[in-house]
Amino acid sequence: MSDANETIAILGGTGDQGLGLALRFCRAGRRVIIGSRKAERALEAAENVRKQVEGADVEGLGNEEATAAGEIVILSVPFEHTASTVKTIKASLREGQIVVSMTVPLATAVGDGALRTVGIWQGSAAELVQSLVPTGVEVVSAFQNVSAHRLQHLADSVDCDVVVSGPKAARERVMALCPLVPGLRALDGGPLSNARIVEEMTALIIGLNIRHKCPEGLGIRFTGLPQGEAG
Ligand SMILES: NC(=O)c1ccc[n+]([C@@H]2O[C@H](COP(=O)([O-])OP(=O)(O)OC[C@H]3O[C@@H](n4cnc5c(N)ncnc54)[C@H](OP(=O)(O)O)[C@@H]3O)[C@@H](O)[C@H]2O)c1
Repeated sequence: MSDANETIAILGGTGDQGLGLALRFCRAGRRVIIGSRKAERALEAAENVRKQVEGADVEGLGNEEATAAGEIVILSVPFEHTASTVKTIKASLREGQIVVSMTVPLATAVGDGALRTVGIWQGSAAELVQSLVPTGVEVVSAFQNVSAHRLQHLADSVDCDVVVSGPKAARERVMALCPLVPGLRALDGGPLSNARIVEEMTALIIGLNIRHKCPEGLGIRFTGLPQGEAG
């Protein structure tokens, strides 16, 4: 079960995916801090959440302050700005915090298309993030296959499995966040190195969205799990 006292900071929560998660977590009654490079943008995004979710416990802060305020820190900036963002917040991270990587290393980062990814020396964007955070901060990979449009459309559930990878205890804490979003089901994705597979799947999903004319975004489902096995 997710710890209702845990504050969730979402850096880049002013953008599509981060805002979607902020809306959903606030709707589930969780405290959310939206981070931005510019505090005023974060305040605007928090106001947007309050307009859509009555009684939302949400605040907008600069990325460094948001990081310091969160027990779970979700990185929601494009891949090409992920490393620089982690370096900016490094001094605000402390032992025991969890950083969630949901970035997809799409080849758009190097001027190519969104149907391909770029290779990363560490194996995945999540492992790159792990290489940059201070000792004692654990990185968990999640939410790469979830559509921002679906997250933002609060009237509907989000029909998607979320493969969560990383160190066991941290991974379980992030898995516990998934059912806060109606329709999301957490699957135990094992060690962080599996993030490379999950990240690649998003490039495939983007192509499927185009070929099947699904601008709202497809979700993924794994079948055959024993009852009660998934998070
Ligand atoms: N969109 C999707 O459907 C989707 C699905 C799965 C995973 N993801 C992943 O989720 C993450 C966020 O995606 P998104 O679509 O929400 O991205 P986005 O809207 O393009 O950008 C998110 C935020 O990143 C920050 N940002 C922009 N340029 C930056 C820079 N130069 N340096 C630092 N921060 C910068 C901005 O926040 P401030 O200007 O407020 O700082 C922006 O609001 C990405 O890693 C993406 O791969 C997205």
